[in-house]
Amino acid sequence: MSEMVSKPAASDQTSRQSWGTQYGFLIAAIGSAIGLGNIWRFPGVAYQNGGGAFIVPYLIALLAIGLPMLMLDYAIGHKFRGSPPLALARVNRRTEAVGWWQVGVCFFIVVYYAAIIAWALRYTVFSFTRAWGNDPAGFFSDKFLQAQDTTSISITPVWGIALPLILVWVVTIILIALGISRGIEWITKICIPLLVVLFIAMVIKALTLPGATDGLNKFFTPDWSALWNGKVWIAAVAQIFYSLSVGFGIMMTYASYLKKRSNLTGTGLVAGFANSSFEILAGIGVFATLGYMAHLQGTSVDKLENISGVSLSFITFPQIINEMPGGAIFGALFFASLVLAGITSMVSLVQVVAGAFQDKIGWTSKRASLILGIVLAVVSVFFFGTTTGLAALDTVDNYINTIGVVGAALSLCVIVTVITPSLRTLRIHLNVTSAVKAGKWWEGLIGFVIPVLLVFMLVPNLVDLISHGYGDYPRWWTNTFGWGMLAILLVFSAVMPRLKWHKSAEISPSFDLENVDWNKEED
Ligand code: PFF
Repeated sequence: MSEMVSKPAASDQTSRQSWGTQYGFLIAAIGSAIGLGNIWRFPGVAYQNGGGAFIVPYLIALLAIGLPMLMLDYAIGHKFRGSPPLALARVNRRTEAVGWWQVGVCFFIVVYYAAIIAWALRYTVFSFTRAWGNDPAGFFSDKFLQAQDTTSISITPVWGIALPLILVWVVTIILIALGISRGIEWITKICIPLLVVLFIAMVIKALTLPGATDGLNKFFTPDWSALWNGKVWIAAVAQIFYSLSVGFGIMMTYASYLKKRSNLTGTGLVAGFANSSFEILAGIGVFATLGYMAHLQGTSVDKLENISGVSLSFITFPQIINEMPGGAIFGALFFASLVLAGITSMVSLVQVVAGAFQDKIGWTSKRASLILGIVLAVVSVFFFGTTTGLAALDTVDNYINTIGVVGAALSLCVIVTVITPSLRTLRIHLNVTSAVKAGKWWEGLIGFVIPVLLVFMLVPNLVDLISHGYGDYPRWWTNTFGWGMLAILLVFSAVMPRLKWHKSAEISPSFDLENVDWNKEED
């Protein structure tokens, strides 16, 4: 081995944080996957895309795309022992920028994600007194969000949101500062079992409501014609990416804190199925509740309005809670579930950002969490704790998911297939420690099938956004919160690789993947 080649020093590797146990990692991975997306995004997406028939593309997307991508994230993170920029720089120095792109994606997701958790926190308390009164829709937009004009940037704080938002950030900063095992692992071990108990209680209550079966019929009755619609398949893939948290650095980061002897594929399968089971459970709970609402209104579930995203949770559910015997408790269970599910995902998003700076600059977890946490919190409160909130959230969410996340996943596939062909090495790595072996088919999926599908997802969306903009928002708005945000992301990813690595990362100018003995560094 040439003298110029630097090998990751043992000191670096032994000082890297790690999960307390394999179970700790598993529960944290599940905690990251189960999030707001499962409870408020999945039911609406399923409803709009063929109801019961959606389960078919959804399961296919899980098996053919979600789980293989999860394994890719695990393999890269575990083998190269780094947050996305470090791990990808170790794959090929020129691909570090993609790692920073992933970090930036997590940054922009978490600043609005935190706001929704803050809303849910307030709504948990509101549930007890049904503080939204008789008009939950008006309450939500006028009194709660104070979104007077949908598209205006203002710095007028809405204290009812800004304060719980600050609280959410303080808790997150403390958890990240405590580190992987004492912070993230600890909180997910508490929150996830609690979430399951609360959520099951809510679902049982929902199933006993009159009309529940009509809702379930709507959810499970397949509209097979939907399967001929390409958009339905794309929606299924997008949901899987969102829901499993794959392709943009989260699982790569989490896997980098695993010890050498870790069962990667087995854990991945359990995490993936746990996430989807919870998602389907959420669909059952939400649809049973919608069935009840239709029953109250003497209509059918298809005729209901506001059954996706923000409106579903913050308008339709309060309406239902108003009518329901025992609604206060039901509401508190529902919103507390959102908070619990949200917080364990939020820490995973922040850890990607914090971990990346720890690796690059050599910051401790305390320092990274404080400095970056404050930056994130300021951006988050500035945009989403003010009257700018809702429309900005909708726009950022759309652009970051349709372009940021899909672009990141596609780049990852291209890196390991074309730029530094390493699929075989990664597959062997997966199989060395894991009980369930990844076959050659895995290479075919990552190397061909998935990237082709991702191109089919990305291109039409790009064309559409360029030619028609997004929703009814004026162009200056989407240019600011859509393209503007992506431009910042691009500049950030281009600039960060220019900074020098901290010595512990051991990426010298002559760093070369082939010459590093990766087995040595692991304990
Ligand atoms: N998987 C989590 C969820 O479903 O809410 C966390 C998350 C990941 C949210 C990625 C949003 C996102 F774009």
